[in-house]
Amino acid sequence: GALAVAAARTRNGAHARNGGRPCAAVLGEPLPAALDDGLGLLVHPSADFAAGALVSSTQQYREMYQRSIDDPAGFWSEIAEEFYWKHKWNPDEVCSENLDVTKGAIKIEWFKGGKTNICYNAVDRNVEAGNGDKIAMYWEGNEPSDDGKLTYSELLDKVCQLANYLKSVGVGKGDAVVIYLPMLMELPIAMLACARIGAVHSVVFAGFSADALAQRIIDCKPKVVITCNAVKRGLKTIPLKDIVDTSLAESAKNGADVGICLTYENQSALSKVDTRWKPGRDVWWQDVVPNFPTKCDVEWVDAEDPLFLLYTSGSTGKPKGVLHTTGGYMVYSATTFKHAFDYKPTDIYWCTADCGWITGHSYVTYGPLLNGATVLVFEGAPNYPDPGRCWDIVDKYGVTIFYTAPTLIRSLMRDGTEYVSRHSRKSLRVLGSVGEPINPTAWRWFYDVIGDSRCPISDTWWQTETGGFMITPLPGAWPQKPGSATFPFFGVQPVIVDEKGWELEGECSGYLCIKKSWPGAFRTLYGDKDRYETTYFKPFAGYYFSGDGCRRDKDGYHWLTGRVDDVINVSGHRIGTAEVESALVSHPKCAEAAVVGIDHEVKGQGIYAFVTLVDGVPYSDDLRKSLIMTVRSQIGAFAAPDKIHWAPGLPKTRSGKIMRRILRKIASRQLDELGDTSTLAEPGVVDQLIALSDS
Ligand code: PRX
Repeated sequence: GALAVAAARTRNGAHARNGGRPCAAVLGEPLPAALDDGLGLLVHPSADFAAGALVSSTQQYREMYQRSIDDPAGFWSEIAEEFYWKHKWNPDEVCSENLDVTKGAIKIEWFKGGKTNICYNAVDRNVEAGNGDKIAMYWEGNEPSDDGKLTYSELLDKVCQLANYLKSVGVGKGDAVVIYLPMLMELPIAMLACARIGAVHSVVFAGFSADALAQRIIDCKPKVVITCNAVKRGLKTIPLKDIVDTSLAESAKNGADVGICLTYENQSALSKVDTRWKPGRDVWWQDVVPNFPTKCDVEWVDAEDPLFLLYTSGSTGKPKGVLHTTGGYMVYSATTFKHAFDYKPTDIYWCTADCGWITGHSYVTYGPLLNGATVLVFEGAPNYPDPGRCWDIVDKYGVTIFYTAPTLIRSLMRDGTEYVSRHSRKSLRVLGSVGEPINPTAWRWFYDVIGDSRCPISDTWWQTETGGFMITPLPGAWPQKPGSATFPFFGVQPVIVDEKGWELEGECSGYLCIKKSWPGAFRTLYGDKDRYETTYFKPFAGYYFSGDGCRRDKDGYHWLTGRVDDVINVSGHRIGTAEVESALVSHPKCAEAAVVGIDHEVKGQGIYAFVTLVDGVPYSDDLRKSLIMTVRSQIGAFAAPDKIHWAPGLPKTRSGKIMRRILRKIASRQLDELGDTSTLAEPGVVDQLIALSDS
């Protein structure tokens, strides 16, 4: 491999237990080139910022980190004590784990024996602490004139009413509820209501198509689906209820007959009379929920009882139902939020992520509310009515912490600085980035232009599976390097291994794994324990394998280099190439498809699809459009290929394996780096593909 390994090799315990045999290499391909390291420039927090920060020096971080590693049980128990537990965990079972497949089944458990409720901790606890009148949520609609807010007491009332309604229709502990809503306050309310009664929510991003929604409904068989009639994003109206109707019909044919579709009337988007309706199944939220009492007893659940399922993409076609449980996730999402953003009770916090993704779970809903924070929920599009909308909102609410994705930063950067500079933004204190590596140029623009060279940036590396931040700056503690996610969060032990599973030390680059568990770790893939172990724990025995490449520099800073598996990251959305391929080949005229990621100036990565057509079918522009439509309708608009490349043949090895390495080079026009093509079954296809590049 082409790993830039300038490092000492250590023998990890797994190898020793393996009888010294190296672990199987999962991936034979070289890692992408590491990002430019910002020329070693260090950006320090101001003295004022550091002085007021929760963790205000590298030294303080080191001490806390060391303790979290030396005594994880003590470290996390102390933090867990800050929450309300109906019944405390067994002191000798703070954490029990096995991350080594060679020793038996993978197991991760935290706070065993404890009983609690995350909704109680996120809402009731704040009211009981005397913060009932504090704003829990501000809501800003698609139109700048549409807004709303809820105090913690009002939030509690709304959550209880919905929880009571769900109970009245038979939803109880352990039952699944699918939520397909845009960013209305009703979305976090619905999550909290499920958590309150011990039901397991599965939020599906409202940009997913009817087919994708149906696939998830069929997998988790919810008793109720919660949606709304429609949503407006910018000038577009999206009829969500129609999409749900289609998926419910499809699900019913596949063994998932959902009894109730609770539909919130989003008046600003579509009137009630224009909404398709199936009497008996469909119920208007506003007709029933407000009639229920505003008090609802909490269901005390075990720390290891499931809290939610969230589907995410992997290397193979079927989305994976990532399962998170209650106690560890609660402690971890709250603690990471507090430290990575240096949270203060006076903060007004805005995360632009949708609750349909993990970021919206941990850092719109749970993490902030568990800290009693004021959260802004934004329904609209960041460039509507113009590219200054974000800063308009920042000034309107006095946002102090602004957390977003590099793709948005790059797109606003392209729109020009004048949209930024006409707004004050002086309330901003801390900035955050998530979802993909942030290139140093975008980092600098975010820092210099948006933050006026005043606000530290927390570049948070983590995943749906990790539940919360894993590698992130603590803004008062670390001097930053533009583009580096810096150092591990408390309790997290990242290791970088080579393709054989050897742990690398010092300055190195390789595959990012995690040694030992952390409280926010997912516990399984719903209904597929085998895939859970195979995907995450078998590639490098003894470790959790993240699927990402990473470089550690001479100062110990971590630089994420992107996915090393067949997953691409488009605008921070994780998309499996296999999912896109399977959508393409479902088209009657498509015989075979191979999808690769290419660099994209704004989206980070774009989707480039090579397609082989059924014999005798001519390639045409109409066919290209119809192939793209197929992907939109099977997955969602965000997964639509940027480029379709007609391929009369694909480069394959003699055993029939598609050589993606070559396809990536052709897609990115790095034609002088094709490498050895002599092992191909038909070397001629490469020239043919290059010749068709611009068709
Ligand atoms: O490749 C990494 C990238 O996003 C992947 C996780 O995607 P998902 O589960 O959808 O969660 C996204 C939000 C946490 C990772 O495997 N990624 C996420 N954050 C960063 C990142 N890559 C580099 N830097 C980050 N800060």
